[in-house]
Amino acid sequence: MIVRTLSVKALLLLWIFYSCRSLSSSQELREPPTKIAVVGAGIGGAAAAFYLRQEFGPGVKIDVFEPGEVGGRLATAKIGNHEYETGGAVIHPLNLHMKQFIDKLGLSTCKDVPSKMAIFDGSELTFEESDWFIVNFLRMLWRYGLNYLRMQMWVESVLDKFMRIYQYQQYSYSFTSVERLLHAMGGDDFLRLINQTLEETMIAEGFSQIFLNDVVAPMTRISYGQSVRINGFVGAVSLAGADSGLWSVDGGNKKVCSGLLYHSKSELIRARVASISFKARPSKKGPSSSFYEISYVDDAGAGHSLYDIVVIATPLHQGKSDILFSGFSPAIPSQFPGSYHQVFSTLIHGVLNTSYLGITRPASELTVSDVLTTDCKGSALYSLTSADPVHIVTGYSRPPASHSKVWKVLSPQSLGQEELQRMFLSWDSVSETQWLAYPAYRTPIRHTPPFILHSRLYYLNAVEWAASAMEMSAISARNVALLAHHRWHGQTGRIDQEDLHTRLRGEL
Ligand SMILES: Cc1cc2nc3c(=O)[nH]c(=O)nc-3n(C[C@H](O)[C@H](O)[C@H](O)COP(=O)(O)OP(=O)(O)OC[C@H]3O[C@@H](n4cnc5c(N)ncnc54)[C@H](O)[C@@H]3O)c2cc1C
Ligand SMILES: *[C@@H]1O[C@H](CO)[C@@H](O)[C@H](O)[C@H]1NC(C)=O
Ligand SMILES: *[C@@H]1O[C@H](CO)[C@@H](O)[C@H](O)[C@H]1NC(C)=O
Repeated sequence: MIVRTLSVKALLLLWIFYSCRSLSSSQELREPPTKIAVVGAGIGGAAAAFYLRQEFGPGVKIDVFEPGEVGGRLATAKIGNHEYETGGAVIHPLNLHMKQFIDKLGLSTCKDVPSKMAIFDGSELTFEESDWFIVNFLRMLWRYGLNYLRMQMWVESVLDKFMRIYQYQQYSYSFTSVERLLHAMGGDDFLRLINQTLEETMIAEGFSQIFLNDVVAPMTRISYGQSVRINGFVGAVSLAGADSGLWSVDGGNKKVCSGLLYHSKSELIRARVASISFKARPSKKGPSSSFYEISYVDDAGAGHSLYDIVVIATPLHQGKSDILFSGFSPAIPSQFPGSYHQVFSTLIHGVLNTSYLGITRPASELTVSDVLTTDCKGSALYSLTSADPVHIVTGYSRPPASHSKVWKVLSPQSLGQEELQRMFLSWDSVSETQWLAYPAYRTPIRHTPPFILHSRLYYLNAVEWAASAMEMSAISARNVALLAHHRWHGQTGRIDQEDLHTRLRGEL
């Protein structure tokens, strides 16, 4: 009898103990994190802060570390009284996250100044856009048959599948790798795209080599400073740059970054993150709790803080960042394989030497504003474009090519005095920015870097190996915020789901 009472009592105690434990541990999981760190305040880090706030609510403290300017690769430089974009410049009309940001932040788009394009082969202009659509169309048709039209259709079909990501994210679905994210959008075709060159992809689709050299290469050069050997996915992104309706943010694209930081109520810590260590703390009751300790350096010296979740929003590559990871098994490298491609972005206020472009007629007859270049040996430039200020006042009209005005040159090397002398008849100011701009794209690739570096440590810029663009960073930011949320709460049903396109079709 006594034995029985005891055992019932014991069972009861055990039950209470276990139910409390399971209750407390499930509560522990359900409780939101206390502190989250974001490393880097470019568009990726700022968007991550915004989406993390959206996912985790008002209670969590979000710290954003940035030693340099907020905006990162979105930056402006001043020439005379006006600012001009030196980094990420244009946004596609179907970049829905960027569009949503400016609506939410009360920013506006810059007024569109119509442009005309030409292609320079190192000695002369091989193509010059006319004012008349039909003339352009017939010129293209004459030279390249239906290649141009088919290219537009091909880009549109890629974009169609790309757009699916917005619906998935709307329904909170997230992906653990760049490959899975791409697969969810475009299936095996998209995986093949990132593993094949644009050239291989387009030749297989029946485009001509001449068209690739004359028209496609100039597009990949102006967008990514690289040849048609970049991967097919980033290649499609470059070609979408030929679409109409491209826009930028009034006052400068970087305004989106400071706006998102402010809107997310996160704290900007002006410091460089030196190392991130994993710290497991054995606690008295229940499972041990663990944190990430961030050590940082600023003007005042060094400091450190503990975080539940960390999002890295800077490339982990040579010359881009040098963060030491300690206490992780397996080890996390400071730098992943592959390198970033160097691009010089130079703003020049001066008078163009149109003879440099092989033009023999008077300069006043040159009506094009954007000069793209083919991939010829020893070519000093990727592109030469007429630059408009980031804020355009009503009544602004772009000065003609023969007048003194601001030009932007993208080039693989710094333009020396000699090159400037050949390109310009005269100039009065020059502003040069050197970028490690985007990945040096190579195919095939074994793996893209992971989104998840460790249990609650995420890496946003992995996405750049598919394609580097503002919208790609924003998509990755939302994906990482969703992933961090679902993994924190153990909601596996919204991670790496297959066949989303068919499953969500009914929801449209
Ligand atoms: C010349 C040029 C032209 C481009 N044109 C376009 C375009 O027209 N359209 C488009 O969509 N995209 C364009 N891009 C690409 C686009 O700018 C980038 O894809 C995008 O800005 C990347 O944003 P991010 O926040 O992911 O990275 P970044 O902007 O590089 O931000 C990373 C931030 O992390 C900070 N950081 C680094 N190390 C540390 C550390 N240890 N601790 C704390 N912080 C650290 C850096 O200072 C930086 O501010 C262009 C890029 C360049 C360079
Ligand atoms: C303009 O360019 C042409 C062709 O490159 C060159 O011969 C000429 O010297 C340049 N003019 C000036 C004034 O530099
Ligand atoms: C790319 O192709 C190589 C072989 O050519 C293969 O080993 C690799 O797994 C592929 N990568 C992806 C991401 O599909």
